[in-house]
Amino acid sequence: MTDTVPQYLSGTHAAMSRDEAMAILDRLVEHLRNGTTDMAPEQMQIPISYYLDRDEWEREIQTVFHRIPLPVCTSAELANVGDYKALRVVGKEIILVRSKDGHMRAMLNVCRHRAMKLLPEGCGNTRHGFVCGYHSWSYDTTGRLTGVPGEDTFGDVPREDYGLVQLACEERAGIVYVCLTPGLEMDIDGWLGPVLPHLEALELDKCTHFVTKELAGPNWKVTLDGYLEGYHFSSLHANTVALTNHSNRMTNDRFGPHARNVFALKALDAMMEKPREEWDPAAAMGLVYWIFPGMAIAGGMRERTVISIMLPGDSWGESMTWQTTLLRTPPQTPEEFEEAAKTAEWFFAAFRDEDYAAQTDVQNGLATNPDGHMIIGRNEIAVQHAHESLRRLMAGEPVHD
Ligand SMILES: [Fe+2]
Repeated sequence: MTDTVPQYLSGTHAAMSRDEAMAILDRLVEHLRNGTTDMAPEQMQIPISYYLDRDEWEREIQTVFHRIPLPVCTSAELANVGDYKALRVVGKEIILVRSKDGHMRAMLNVCRHRAMKLLPEGCGNTRHGFVCGYHSWSYDTTGRLTGVPGEDTFGDVPREDYGLVQLACEERAGIVYVCLTPGLEMDIDGWLGPVLPHLEALELDKCTHFVTKELAGPNWKVTLDGYLEGYHFSSLHANTVALTNHSNRMTNDRFGPHARNVFALKALDAMMEKPREEWDPAAAMGLVYWIFPGMAIAGGMRERTVISIMLPGDSWGESMTWQTTLLRTPPQTPEEFEEAAKTAEWFFAAFRDEDYAAQTDVQNGLATNPDGHMIIGRNEIAVQHAHESLRRLMAGEPVHD
């Protein structure tokens, strides 16, 4: 894998001010010198039943995933008027579409006549809208009912009452958020809170979509834990991530339920011996924003940003991840295209063959020892934080202090 490492770290983007980046670098240098990392005050014990309980899983779906603003897609995937995507999200069939006014809409992908799924999963572009395959009822890109064949025999259908069911949908900083329960309002700015300006600085809304790959995984909480610490790099990722990243050396900053985790890259070892004004933050920081409950934005300081959106699947033991690679500049030559494809494949393969393979083994381990507990280390501070945020949401407590 060594030949693929430099290209995934290529390019620089000022994802934050130099002062802010240098302050993070100072913390990482301190950690490298002292053999430390950002830490929680205590370890945390989690009963394995917390992961295995099917009723609890169902409550999480109802209380969290069907109510909060859920990241579902990048804006760049649906850049043009008429671009649409039909997808299954946490058990709901939805359509995202950029309508004529440029706004993104989300609607249930369900015909109002006999409740058939309107569109197959996938992306496309439409000028006129959508036609149901069952009886050819048609809808425009805003979801308004536009055609009922044989209406003189069917009887009148009031257009205003039989449009596609709308969902609250907002775009912020190049990400599309949807609330999966019809009729619920979405306070996206309140939900993102203080992390929003940091996400805006990534300028993902100016990027070009390169590819989105799908990856099936185990239970969402099992999968989640793997995203949130760098303690496993040297063992699980010895020949991939650990070639460029220090293991167990990270900073963790919190923004309500969201977090910024920065991993120390090995390039920092030589850099920290040079005068501070010569430091190059982008070359030394592995920047990952974590947006609760399932989105990791990695590579925000680079030419290529990889966004993983991980959500529960249809049943307890399943999750689904869409991993999207965005580019700051579209590839101009076959060689540039090839380099971007290598980055996308490198990330995807590391997740599939290392993280998700390990987490599937964790799921099997949990089922084998259901009465035990996990112990989450002080160094696994972001794992602790995610479970605390989930606890608060489930208890109806505020997640922003
Ligand atoms: Fe990993």
